[in-house]
Amino acid sequence: MKVIIRENAAEGGLWAARHIAARIKEKAARTAEPFVLGLPTGSTPLATYAELVRMVKAGELSFKNVITFNMDEYVGLPEEHPESYHSFMHKNFFDHIDIPKDHIHILNGNAPDPEAECAAYERAILAAGGIDLFMGGIGEDGHIAFNEPFSPLSSRTRVVTLTQDTREVNSRFFGGDPEAVPARAMSVGVATVMDSREVMILAFGPKKARALASAIEGPMSHYNTVSAMQNHPAGIIVCDEAAIGEVKVNSYRYFKAVEAAEG
Ligand code: GLP
Repeated sequence: MKVIIRENAAEGGLWAARHIAARIKEKAARTAEPFVLGLPTGSTPLATYAELVRMVKAGELSFKNVITFNMDEYVGLPEEHPESYHSFMHKNFFDHIDIPKDHIHILNGNAPDPEAECAAYERAILAAGGIDLFMGGIGEDGHIAFNEPFSPLSSRTRVVTLTQDTREVNSRFFGGDPEAVPARAMSVGVATVMDSREVMILAFGPKKARALASAIEGPMSHYNTVSAMQNHPAGIIVCDEAAIGEVKVNSYRYFKAVEAAEG
């Protein structure tokens, strides 16, 4: 795995946006097939979304031939609820870029048959040719998407029960009340993310430092699902100085030396 360390979240977000743009352009130069992009919600990717929007508005990038799959959605929250991941994605990204509406995929957390919805999502990813690049964030416990501790690293898209910790962390968007945070979500699995040709995980700020250090230096474990990145042939972690703060000094030096050598 490659670890890109930037001074702060703004610079890390910029690096990630440029990386996505470069990958979209590389594929467009080689084939007419669409670029398939996996996307997260959360505060972590906001700077990246803002920069991608800027690029589109400046005519530097287009999403006309990009297909997206979002990571997750709450179960039972109306789509139009301001804190649904549907609302989040439209407000922060899709409403400001040139992506065709039918290229956007977000799990329907109100599907009458949740299992069928999750199975159809996996099929849709396959039908699109698989995901070229999945961008993700992490929870304070190291979860990717909503793959909480003890999610199998072989997991697929399914309905999950959120931990009390996650409901407390996310209660900041629900008037500070953890009980107002839906208890369940639909989420792509760890294996769904890891099947992507490239995975780029963003982690910023001191609250992510412990989970990130154990994902990088600890054993690969269902206790910290982002640790599955250790087994990905093309995994990139983009973090800031605060989030990388708990790794060994020598690990830090190694990542910096690799970046300096490889550019
Ligand atoms: C939620 C999402 C995750 C996200 C995490 C971190 O749990 N399901 O996909 O990575 O929040 O959120 P933030 O980026 O706001 O720290």
